[in-house]
Amino acid sequence: MKLILKIWRQENASAKGKMVSYNISNVSPDMSFLEMMDVLNEELMAKEIDPVAFDHDCREGICGSCSMFINGEAHGPDRYITTCQLHMRKFKDGDTIYIEPFRAKTFPVIKDLVVDRTAFDRIQHSGGFISVNTSGNTQDANSIPIEKTKADMAFDAATCIGCGACVATCKNSSAMLFVSAKVSQFALLPQGEVEATDRVLNMVKQMDQEGFGNCTNTGACEVECPKGISLNNIARMNRELVKAQLKK
Ligand code: SF4
Ligand code: FES
Repeated sequence: MKLILKIWRQENASAKGKMVSYNISNVSPDMSFLEMMDVLNEELMAKEIDPVAFDHDCREGICGSCSMFINGEAHGPDRYITTCQLHMRKFKDGDTIYIEPFRAKTFPVIKDLVVDRTAFDRIQHSGGFISVNTSGNTQDANSIPIEKTKADMAFDAATCIGCGACVATCKNSSAMLFVSAKVSQFALLPQGEVEATDRVLNMVKQMDQEGFGNCTNTGACEVECPKGISLNNIARMNRELVKAQLKK
């Protein structure tokens, strides 16, 4: 396949970026999108041109690092996959592909396609955990019976990989899908109940402090989420928040 790639190039956070066009040939339909980007970068380096910076780590859809906006969609045209799992067979010979970073004020561009998503880390640190006694007397989690439907819902929420596609897709740059998944995975389980009040209050407070927008029930986040995180989690987080506010 021969392709024309229009890629956002930006030297650093304060530089003005622009779309730059590159022609690439010999792309196999079996290549992953990131492998295609590797080939482009090898060609650029051979010509002593600065390679395109992009985030990646696991390349198997679990770390949430890869974060490209491809032809106007977070993680590209396929559903329930990340950019690293997208394959070139989804495109046609001769296609022009537009590749941009995840765009949100709360995710400032560091370089080219790499954005700063540490706001998610700060939200997670504010309450996305349970405090476990590690003295050696910890109760085995499997000794607490949990209703199957609840266990499944908690597991589904826990599949959020913190990629940020929901924020990049939302017209309000809302982080509600991400935060609600993190709140829900604990709120649904007895182990998470102990710190539930402080967790939801602190995580929502941190989310607001970071400057993420509110949810206006558009649902775009759910469509683009590579893990199919449900909007039901946002409803659950709102209920948890009201409960917590009444307790405080
Ligand atoms: S909710 Fe989905 S889109 Fe948002 S961070 Fe989690 S996995 Fe990514
Ligand atoms: S590189 Fe880890 S999810 Fe894509």
